[in-house]
Amino acid sequence: MTESSIDTPPHNPATDRSGEPPRAKSLAPLKQLLGFLWPHKGRMIAAGTALVFTAGAQLTLGYGVKILIDEGFAGADASGLYKAVTFILVIGIAMAIGAMTRFYLVSWLGERVSADLRSAVFNNLVHMQPSYFESNHSGEIMSRLTTDTTLLQTLIGSSVSLAVRNALTLTGALTLMVITNVKLSLVILIAVPVTLLPILIFGRRVRKLSNKSQQAIAEVGSHAGEIFQSIKVVQSFNREVAEKTAFGRDVEQAFVVARSRVLQRALLAGFAIFLLMGGMVSMMWSGGVDVIEGRMTGGELGAFVFYAIMVGTAFATLSEVWGDLQRAAGAAERLMELLAETSEIPDTGTQTPANNTELVFEGVHFAYPSRPTHPALSSFTLEIAHGESVALVGPSGAGKSTVFELMLRFYDPIAGAIRFGGEDLREMPLDSWRQKIALVPQQPTLFSGDIFYNIAYGANEPTQAAVEAAAHMAHAHEFIQTLPEGYQSHLGAQGVRLSGGQRQRIALARAILSDSELLLLDEATSALDTESEWHVQQALTDIMQKRTTIIIAHRLSTVINADRIVVMDEGRVIDSGPHDELMTRCELYQRLARLQFQTEQAP
Ligand SMILES: Nc1ncnc2c1ncn2[C@@H]1O[C@H](COP(=O)(O)OP(=O)(O)OP(=O)(O)O)[C@@H](O)[C@H]1O
Ligand SMILES: [Mg+2]
Repeated sequence: MTESSIDTPPHNPATDRSGEPPRAKSLAPLKQLLGFLWPHKGRMIAAGTALVFTAGAQLTLGYGVKILIDEGFAGADASGLYKAVTFILVIGIAMAIGAMTRFYLVSWLGERVSADLRSAVFNNLVHMQPSYFESNHSGEIMSRLTTDTTLLQTLIGSSVSLAVRNALTLTGALTLMVITNVKLSLVILIAVPVTLLPILIFGRRVRKLSNKSQQAIAEVGSHAGEIFQSIKVVQSFNREVAEKTAFGRDVEQAFVVARSRVLQRALLAGFAIFLLMGGMVSMMWSGGVDVIEGRMTGGELGAFVFYAIMVGTAFATLSEVWGDLQRAAGAAERLMELLAETSEIPDTGTQTPANNTELVFEGVHFAYPSRPTHPALSSFTLEIAHGESVALVGPSGAGKSTVFELMLRFYDPIAGAIRFGGEDLREMPLDSWRQKIALVPQQPTLFSGDIFYNIAYGANEPTQAAVEAAAHMAHAHEFIQTLPEGYQSHLGAQGVRLSGGQRQRIALARAILSDSELLLLDEATSALDTESEWHVQQALTDIMQKRTTIIIAHRLSTVINADRIVVMDEGRVIDSGPHDELMTRCELYQRLARLQFQTEQAP
């Protein structure tokens, strides 16, 4: 009973932050966890054995109490006492070894299974189509990966063992109690539920309040987080005092909830002690009368009291664990949902993609899943020869970036097809198709590693020389060298330690290094100054010689060097041709070009 305290679920901040995670109605989802436990069946058996062994030892302790009182204290000499104490010592050592083994094995299982679950969920989600993460907030997924797996870790690592152990001791102690004294047992069997019922009701109220209190604290945390993230805006508008007041209000609210929880807890503790002591006293009284009248020995009464305490504790623990089981079932259900997700972009193709061949968009029709009635591309038809450089121009929202998204198969067309060398992209394995493409996205994405890591991200085992060559071409080498740690400089989360134009050049170097057959540049030089852009243009001209390149750009200077310019509007190709031709016949292009020249000429 004292040892059960090692197994009490640890106070877990991850669970606390989001308040009470919803409970499942049934425990059925827990069955699916068996798949994760099965590989460790050997340890499970060992843990089970240790558990039964410890519970058995604990029950035998009651007999130790009996002989201690009857033969030890009441005996003629110390030999009885010696015998009783030795017995209790041996049982104590057995319990210690058993509990140690059980605790290690069971906790190991909990940690192992939750680690396996985390990896399994991540490994599954990393293949999901990108739109999945638009409708499922990454924060929510992350909390499932941490909070829910931690709940299951607690479940396997302690709750289950606690439940089994207490069920065993409950049955064992009950049986031994009845064997020791039937009349007293009946008294106890009625008294225990009567005593525990109000305690349980009180306990539930306390639990509700502590969930509320956790939620209040979570709000305090997220409030502070938001303020610190936007600290520049807060300070620039002189909002410090207002924010202090608002934060103080949140903190006070959390305190009020916490205070009423603490009050309930105090009442619960007092109430529980009073009821338990009352029960004990009446048990001692009626048992004591029996002892005085010779109907039972003092030792039997001692053992009986020992078992009664065991029954009470086991009963209380089991009712606690029930709530844990429900919570864990909820967590398991949500995790299994994540594990069952499959990507909407089927990766079933088997054709090896051809090399150095043409890319064709054949009447492609597409609308984003979140806006099914608003087509982003309609009857989009375009042929791009191998080695050709094509510029996509058009007003914002024309569907230019969408063309890239479909090429990369982040989405599949609703109608029509994209073919490479005559083969539909869907007929090819995703990875071998994507390997042919290097993308510089509209928003350059950097990871929180160093510069070398970020440039080398898409390449297989690149050398320092190769990385530096790519950086040279992207016109990034100079500024990288001025950083204190050069290529080993860390960039902070999402590359916050670089300027917009520097980030863009790193992204460009990454694409250059990956040396892919198709190069997709989405506004890849939009954040560069005119001089750097000119240098990057020169480098790109070389690179574009050898591969098919599609460039999206708003600046005419970028577009003008392309072999062909494709004008897009509202998801369609309006016209295509070289700059001069388009200037004479395409009204939209003239408009775009005119405005562009004006802005470029402005100081
Ligand atoms: N993830 C998305 N979900 C829903 N709609 C989207 C999504 N991305 C783009 N759209 C919509 O699809 C249309 C085409 O967008 P797209 O990003 O292709 O435009 P664009 O030509 O690249 O524009 P810009 O020059 O501003 O980058 C727009 O109407 C846009 O609002
Ligand atoms: Mg775009």
